[in-house]
Amino acid sequence: MSKDSTARVAVVGSINRDTSIRVLRLPRPGETTLAISATQSGGGKGANQAVAAARAGAVLTTLIGAIGDDPAGKELMQAFCNEGIDTLLEVVEGEATGQAFVSVSEDGENSIIVVPGANTEFRRLTPQAAEAVAQANVILCQLETPAELLFDVAGARSAQSLLILNAAPALPLGETVWDLVDLLIVNEHEAAEYAGGGHGDINVIVARLLSKVPMVVITLGSEGCAFFDTNGEHIRVPAHAIEAVDSTGAGDTFCGVFAAQLALGEPIEEAMKAAVAAAAIAVSRPGAQTAIPTFKEVGQLLRSDADPAGTHYPL
Ligand code: RIB
Repeated sequence: MSKDSTARVAVVGSINRDTSIRVLRLPRPGETTLAISATQSGGGKGANQAVAAARAGAVLTTLIGAIGDDPAGKELMQAFCNEGIDTLLEVVEGEATGQAFVSVSEDGENSIIVVPGANTEFRRLTPQAAEAVAQANVILCQLETPAELLFDVAGARSAQSLLILNAAPALPLGETVWDLVDLLIVNEHEAAEYAGGGHGDINVIVARLLSKVPMVVITLGSEGCAFFDTNGEHIRVPAHAIEAVDSTGAGDTFCGVFAAQLALGEPIEEAMKAAVAAAAIAVSRPGAQTAIPTFKEVGQLLRSDADPAGTHYPL
């Protein structure tokens, strides 16, 4: 598939080397557990989202981030190049590339510890990176790199672009950050956290989030996702039934594919459908970047499961 030169996604965010450790069940505090296996692969929320956008086809994807001056950084940079991703990566001298230690249980649940390394040193956009942001029609950021970067991104973007914040992991953010964001993507837990609890009432949570940003997408795992905006629009997309193997990076797959589809000019609902299907495939495979599907695979799932199961989530 040839790339549409008008569709550009810039992903500003973290780059990690993941060590995935398979266990029968996640260890309890104080417990020692023997692993079934341990494997290394590319990870980091920013990098995963860039890979998902690039594999979604037809969009020019730029990854803007930082790596250490170590072999892991070089390997990851080569891998992005093989994916056809443009990279604008700062190499931080004397720092290690970010690492994540991911424990994955037999039922596909995970727990992750991130050692951020070079990601924390990434605080300003270079002029080249600012130029890439200015040319993008969709910009995708997360919170595994310092939140202050968002001000640089907002200063560099064009007025016609869409700035999406996947506010993961959930962190305390100053109110001024929300003014920079057009569309927020969060999971249910992050949504409740940013809404200040909301007493578990989803309508209260959504209302509080919409008082901060104009558009919100809440990802709901096996229940799909939901979109809301300040004009009262509400779109619900159910999930595809799959056998969960490893949920690592499924949210990132959603974000990358969603951003790529919007950059291609697809309506929000179509972008949500593609993103939900891509995330379902990602959950059915091990690893983060290793699990992200191509758009051909997403298309096959969308055609074969055109009417996914109904939902029980009260949205
Ligand atoms: O969202 C999944 C990612 O979180 C993993 O790839 C890991 O690197 C952590 O950043």
